[in-house]
Amino acid sequence: MKTKTQFKIKVASRGKMATKHLLRTGFKNVLGYCVLLIFLQGVTTIAVAEDPTGKSVYKDYCASCHEGGFKGWITGAPDVDAPSEWELFRKKGLEAMVENTMKGTEHMDPKGGCGSCTREQIEAAVKHIDSKLKKEEGQ
Ligand code: HEC
Repeated sequence: MKTKTQFKIKVASRGKMATKHLLRTGFKNVLGYCVLLIFLQGVTTIAVAEDPTGKSVYKDYCASCHEGGFKGWITGAPDVDAPSEWELFRKKGLEAMVENTMKGTEHMDPKGGCGSCTREQIEAAVKHIDSKLKKEEGQ
């Protein structure tokens, strides 16, 4: 039977070997991955900033409440799958809905919780919700 110390030594030496191996062969790859990750991060940031459909803002900041689920249930948020739940809000028109989202409502933080969002992004996200509702209604 192996003792605990023997086991530890074995694990430690494996760790060392792995590090050596990484340094010898894989380090360049790791660096490559880092650069790639930073690059991709930049690309997604640009994608959010320039996304005219508001789809990504919606997905990142609104869907957690407006697609049912636990937060939707807790806050009683209208669901994008249920146009009837939006009737009262949509009656006031899209502009009022954007305005209310910017200001926040009783159960929704200002800008729907996306503090860094611009008005244009919020407007795009509200329009995205509206287009989802229209699709749901078959329009
Ligand atoms: C914490 C949950 C939550 C999040 C996150 C959230 N909402 Fe809401 N939203 C609500 C609730 C709840 C209401 C219904 C009003 C109320 O009870 O406060 C609402 C109402 C709305 C309305 C109708 C407002 C009106 O009075 O005309 C719009 C439009 C809206 N949300 C858009 C968004 C958008 C866009 C986002 C993301 C940027 C978002 N919401 C994020 C919970 C949320």
